[in-house]
Amino acid sequence: MDIYCEKLNVNHAPFIHNIMSIDDYDCIFCEKNTSVEEWKSRITEILRDRGQDNYIAFDTLTRKPVGWIGYENSNQICKLHIIVVHTDFLSKKYGYGMMEWLMKNVSNKANKIVLDVQDENVRDIRFYKKIGFEIIRVEMQPFGEGQMKYYVMELTINNVQLFSGPLF
Ligand SMILES: CC(C)(COP(=O)(O)OP(=O)(O)OC[C@H]1O[C@@H](n2cnc3c(N)ncnc32)[C@H](O)[C@@H]1OP(=O)(O)O)[C@@H](O)C(=O)NCCC(=O)NCCS
Repeated sequence: MDIYCEKLNVNHAPFIHNIMSIDDYDCIFCEKNTSVEEWKSRITEILRDRGQDNYIAFDTLTRKPVGWIGYENSNQICKLHIIVVHTDFLSKKYGYGMMEWLMKNVSNKANKIVLDVQDENVRDIRFYKKIGFEIIRVEMQPFGEGQMKYYVMELTINNVQLFSGPLF
Protein backbone atom coordinates (compact mmCIF):
# COMPACT_ATOMS: atom_id res chain seq x y z
CA MET A 1 0.00 0.00 0.00
CA ASP A 2 1.32 3.41 -0.90
CA ILE A 3 1.33 5.89 1.93
CA TYR A 4 2.24 9.50 2.46
CA CYS A 5 2.84 11.16 5.83
CA GLU A 6 1.71 14.47 7.30
CA LYS A 7 3.36 16.05 10.33
CA LEU A 8 1.14 15.54 13.38
CA ASN A 9 -1.08 18.53 14.23
CA VAL A 10 -4.13 19.18 16.43
CA ASN A 11 -6.51 18.48 13.54
CA HIS A 12 -5.42 14.84 13.79
CA ALA A 13 -6.81 14.58 17.36
CA PRO A 14 -10.09 12.87 16.27
CA PHE A 15 -8.12 10.20 14.37
CA ILE A 16 -5.72 9.59 17.28
CA HIS A 17 -8.72 9.42 19.64
CA ASN A 18 -10.34 6.93 17.28
CA ILE A 19 -7.27 4.65 17.22
CA MET A 20 -6.73 4.83 20.97
CA SER A 21 -10.42 4.03 21.70
CA ILE A 22 -10.00 0.59 20.12
CA ASP A 23 -10.55 -2.13 22.75
CA ASP A 24 -7.65 -4.27 21.48
CA TYR A 25 -5.22 -1.38 21.92
CA ASP A 26 -6.20 -0.48 25.48
CA CYS A 27 -3.84 -3.04 27.00
CA ILE A 28 -0.96 -1.59 24.95
CA PHE A 29 -1.57 2.15 25.24
CA CYS A 30 -4.09 2.56 28.14
CA GLU A 31 -5.59 5.65 26.44
CA LYS A 32 -9.15 4.44 25.84
CA ASN A 33 -10.69 7.13 28.02
CA THR A 34 -8.66 10.04 26.65
CA SER A 35 -11.09 12.47 24.96
CA VAL A 36 -10.55 14.33 21.67
CA GLU A 37 -10.08 17.57 23.65
CA GLU A 38 -7.45 15.93 25.86
CA TRP A 39 -5.71 14.63 22.74
CA LYS A 40 -5.64 18.17 21.34
CA SER A 41 -3.76 19.43 24.38
CA ARG A 42 -1.56 16.32 24.42
CA ILE A 43 -0.64 16.95 20.75
CA THR A 44 0.14 20.59 21.57
CA GLU A 45 2.53 19.30 24.27
CA ILE A 46 4.10 16.79 21.87
CA LEU A 47 4.65 19.55 19.30
CA ARG A 48 6.46 21.68 21.90
CA ASP A 49 9.02 18.88 22.28
CA ARG A 50 11.36 19.74 19.42
CA GLY A 51 13.21 16.43 19.77
CA GLN A 52 10.22 14.32 18.80
CA ASP A 53 8.91 13.77 15.28
CA ASN A 54 5.37 12.51 14.82
CA TYR A 55 3.53 11.82 11.60
CA ILE A 56 0.15 10.54 10.54
CA ALA A 57 0.23 8.10 7.63
CA PHE A 58 -2.42 8.32 4.90
CA ASP A 59 -3.31 5.93 2.11
CA THR A 60 -2.23 7.64 -1.10
CA LEU A 61 -5.28 6.49 -3.04
CA THR A 62 -8.11 7.01 -0.54
CA ARG A 63 -6.39 9.86 1.37
CA LYS A 64 -7.74 8.29 4.59
CA PRO A 65 -5.54 8.31 7.71
CA VAL A 66 -4.33 4.78 8.55
CA GLY A 67 -1.73 5.10 11.29
CA TRP A 68 0.57 7.08 13.55
CA ILE A 69 4.37 6.93 13.78
CA GLY A 70 6.51 8.81 16.34
CA TYR A 71 10.27 8.79 16.85
CA GLU A 72 13.28 10.75 18.05
CA ASN A 73 16.77 11.04 16.52
CA SER A 74 19.83 11.47 18.67
CA ASN A 75 23.51 10.60 18.12
CA GLN A 76 22.79 8.73 14.87
CA ILE A 77 20.18 6.57 16.61
CA CYS A 78 16.48 6.74 15.83
CA LYS A 79 14.31 5.72 18.79
CA LEU A 80 10.92 4.53 17.57
CA HIS A 81 8.36 5.54 20.22
CA ILE A 82 5.18 4.50 18.50
CA ILE A 83 3.95 2.79 15.36
CA VAL A 84 0.28 1.94 15.23
CA VAL A 85 -2.08 1.07 12.40
CA HIS A 86 -5.85 1.48 12.87
CA THR A 87 -7.48 -1.96 13.29
CA ASP A 88 -9.68 -1.28 10.21
CA PHE A 89 -6.49 -1.38 8.13
CA LEU A 90 -4.38 -4.07 9.78
CA SER A 91 -2.50 -6.68 7.67
CA LYS A 92 -2.70 -4.54 4.52
CA LYS A 93 1.04 -3.74 4.53
CA TYR A 94 0.59 -0.21 5.88
CA GLY A 95 2.94 -1.13 8.76
CA TYR A 96 5.66 -2.11 6.27
CA GLY A 97 4.98 1.08 4.30
CA MET A 98 5.40 3.22 7.42
CA MET A 99 8.66 1.49 8.39
CA GLU A 100 10.02 1.96 4.86
CA TRP A 101 9.05 5.62 5.01
CA LEU A 102 10.83 5.92 8.39
CA MET A 103 14.05 4.30 7.16
CA LYS A 104 14.19 6.61 4.15
CA ASN A 105 13.27 9.65 6.21
CA VAL A 106 15.89 9.18 8.93
CA SER A 107 18.72 7.54 6.94
CA ASN A 108 20.66 10.82 6.72
CA LYS A 109 20.43 11.38 10.50
CA ALA A 110 20.60 7.86 11.93
CA ASN A 111 22.19 4.54 11.16
CA LYS A 112 20.11 2.49 13.59
CA ILE A 113 16.49 2.25 14.66
CA VAL A 114 15.83 1.02 18.20
CA LEU A 115 12.55 0.22 19.94
CA ASP A 116 11.05 -1.53 22.99
CA VAL A 117 8.27 -4.06 22.62
CA GLN A 118 6.32 -5.99 25.28
CA ASP A 119 7.31 -9.66 25.19
CA GLU A 120 3.62 -10.65 24.94
CA ASN A 121 3.14 -8.63 21.77
CA VAL A 122 3.86 -11.60 19.49
CA ARG A 123 2.36 -10.08 16.36
CA ASP A 124 4.49 -6.94 16.60
CA ILE A 125 7.66 -8.90 17.37
CA ARG A 126 7.03 -10.96 14.22
CA PHE A 127 6.47 -7.75 12.25
CA TYR A 128 9.76 -6.23 13.48
CA LYS A 129 11.72 -9.46 12.89
CA LYS A 130 10.44 -9.65 9.29
CA ILE A 131 11.81 -6.16 8.71
CA GLY A 132 15.20 -7.26 10.08
CA PHE A 133 15.12 -6.07 13.72
CA GLU A 134 17.00 -8.23 16.23
CA ILE A 135 16.47 -8.56 19.98
CA ILE A 136 19.53 -7.06 21.68
CA ARG A 137 18.42 -7.30 25.31
CA VAL A 138 15.54 -7.96 27.68
CA GLU A 139 14.44 -5.30 30.18
CA MET A 140 11.87 -5.01 32.94
CA GLN A 141 10.09 -1.67 32.65
CA PRO A 142 7.45 0.00 34.84
CA PHE A 143 3.89 -0.60 33.60
CA GLY A 144 0.83 0.58 35.52
CA GLU A 145 1.40 -0.40 39.14
CA GLY A 146 3.89 -3.14 38.33
CA GLN A 147 6.51 -4.11 35.79
CA MET A 148 6.46 -5.69 32.32
CA LYS A 149 9.07 -7.60 30.34
CA TYR A 150 10.22 -5.79 27.21
CA TYR A 151 12.51 -6.74 24.34
CA VAL A 152 14.83 -4.01 23.13
CA MET A 153 15.15 -4.48 19.37
CA GLU A 154 17.55 -2.88 16.91
CA LEU A 155 17.87 -2.54 13.14
CA THR A 156 20.90 -1.21 11.30
CA ILE A 157 19.76 0.88 8.35
CA ASN A 158 21.71 -0.09 5.25
CA ASN A 159 21.60 0.61 1.56
CA VAL A 160 20.16 -2.82 0.82
CA GLN A 161 16.99 -1.98 2.74
CA LEU A 162 16.82 1.49 1.30
CA PHE A 163 17.32 0.66 -2.33
CA SER A 164 16.13 -2.92 -2.77
CA GLY A 165 12.54 -1.84 -3.42
CA PRO A 166 9.48 -2.49 -1.27
CA LEU A 167 9.81 -4.70 1.81
CA PHE A 168 6.91 -6.88 0.65
C1 LIG B 1 2.67 -3.71 14.31
C2 LIG B 1 1.71 -3.07 13.32
C3 LIG B 1 2.06 -1.59 13.18
C4 LIG B 1 1.85 -3.79 11.96
O1 LIG B 1 1.05 -3.12 11.01
P1 LIG B 1 0.27 -3.87 9.82
O2 LIG B 1 -0.08 -2.83 8.80
O3 LIG B 1 -0.83 -4.69 10.33
O4 LIG B 1 1.41 -4.87 9.27
P2 LIG B 1 1.64 -5.31 7.76
O5 LIG B 1 0.33 -5.56 7.06
O6 LIG B 1 2.58 -4.34 7.13
O7 LIG B 1 2.31 -6.73 7.99
C5 LIG B 1 3.64 -6.87 8.23
C6 LIG B 1 3.86 -8.14 9.07
O8 LIG B 1 3.20 -8.03 10.33
C7 LIG B 1 2.74 -9.31 10.72
N1 LIG B 1 1.30 -9.38 10.68
C8 LIG B 1 0.44 -8.63 9.99
N2 LIG B 1 -0.83 -9.03 10.22
C9 LIG B 1 -0.75 -10.06 11.09
C10 LIG B 1 -1.74 -10.88 11.71
N3 LIG B 1 -3.05 -10.75 11.48
N4 LIG B 1 -1.31 -11.82 12.60
C11 LIG B 1 0.01 -11.99 12.84
N5 LIG B 1 0.98 -11.24 12.26
C12 LIG B 1 0.58 -10.29 11.39
C13 LIG B 1 3.25 -10.29 9.71
O9 LIG B 1 4.53 -10.72 10.13
C14 LIG B 1 3.32 -9.44 8.48
O10 LIG B 1 4.21 -9.97 7.55
P3 LIG B 1 3.68 -10.82 6.26
O11 LIG B 1 2.48 -10.10 5.71
O12 LIG B 1 4.85 -10.78 5.35
O13 LIG B 1 3.34 -12.16 6.81
C15 LIG B 1 0.23 -3.26 13.80
O14 LIG B 1 0.02 -4.63 14.06
C16 LIG B 1 -0.16 -2.45 15.01
O15 LIG B 1 -0.59 -1.31 14.89
N6 LIG B 1 -0.08 -3.06 16.22
C17 LIG B 1 -0.58 -2.46 17.44
C18 LIG B 1 0.22 -1.30 17.94
C19 LIG B 1 1.53 -1.72 18.51
O16 LIG B 1 1.60 -2.60 19.34
N7 LIG B 1 2.58 -1.05 18.06
C20 LIG B 1 3.91 -1.30 18.55
C21 LIG B 1 4.23 -0.65 19.83
S1 LIG B 1 4.16 1.12 19.73
